[in-house]
Amino acid sequence: MDDRNLALELCRVTEAAALACARLMGRGDRDAADATAVEAMRRAFDHIDIRGTVVIGEGERDEAPMLFIGEQVGKGWVREGSKSPRVDIAVDPLEGTNLCAMGQPGAIAVIALAEDGKFLNAPDTYMEKIAVGPEAHGVIDLRESWTWNLERIAAAKGKSIDQLTTIILDRPRHEELIAEVREAGARIRLIGDGDVSAAIATCKEETGIDVLFGTGGAPEGVISAAALQCVNGDIQGRLRFRNDEERARAEKMGVPAEDHIYSIDELAQGNVMFAATGVTESAFLDGVRFIAGGARTQSVVMRSQSGTVRVIDATHRFETKPAYSWATGLD
Ligand code: FBP
Repeated sequence: MDDRNLALELCRVTEAAALACARLMGRGDRDAADATAVEAMRRAFDHIDIRGTVVIGEGERDEAPMLFIGEQVGKGWVREGSKSPRVDIAVDPLEGTNLCAMGQPGAIAVIALAEDGKFLNAPDTYMEKIAVGPEAHGVIDLRESWTWNLERIAAAKGKSIDQLTTIILDRPRHEELIAEVREAGARIRLIGDGDVSAAIATCKEETGIDVLFGTGGAPEGVISAAALQCVNGDIQGRLRFRNDEERARAEKMGVPAEDHIYSIDELAQGNVMFAATGVTESAFLDGVRFIAGGARTQSVVMRSQSGTVRVIDATHRFETKPAYSWATGLD
């Protein structure tokens, strides 16, 4: 899986998803925006020469018509004797569905890709997370308190705690976490949605974000881990089940006990590729901008093997790009 061009191909897939759902920005219809991104991403995969299996996706086959867990994607499957790489795929065609529906910052289209079996097959439940950038790699521990972690991160970054900025999903379940962080003296940026963007923001100094704390989706935890592997960031996760049904399902899947702390390598390991395109603007990517006859997108593409991070600004001309015509409503 050292195909360097493949990483760039992935960017086409996230661009297609972002272009499609960006048309629905601010319409207040999160389901329509999500469905549009899913369909565009599904179509774009047909042009990519891989034999991919979705391991983190839109849910089980019976609840998701496309990009469901276990679905095979990529044109490699339809060519007999194909030698195209077999890969596991984690997708979130529209991460931050509410953000897109309400026209707020932070919505992105995301794909991560790994060799067979290298992503945690995370159940669709919650995950408690700490994510940090490269300077604080190896110093975090979910077993310890938030304050303990702030002290360690501050020391690793050569800052005082009151110079640290945490990013936390604004949810009632985080009341105690927020109180403890305030008591410790760190700054907080509360966000409505989008903890994948938030995790990645910890790795970009310009964002001013030092650490993501709190509980979000478990699939998002795996996708964040893939991104952070590419830039030597760090993340730990612990599953948090919402009810006994989820707990029982996870047990059936052979998922370790609830108190197991997943390291970044348990979430996503080996050679990983990651691509994301901004739908609305975020701390690290511009959103889609429509221009006469086309649109502009900004994407990031990363590979863990090389550690290269590419930011790709693209101008799309709809009349000469049939692949995008569906995504933009022109066919
Ligand atoms: P969606 O794009 O699927 O709506 O997810 C948005 C999100 O904010 C994630 O970034 C986060 O991990 C999760 O939802 C948190 O879940 P909840 O909204 O139930 O607190």
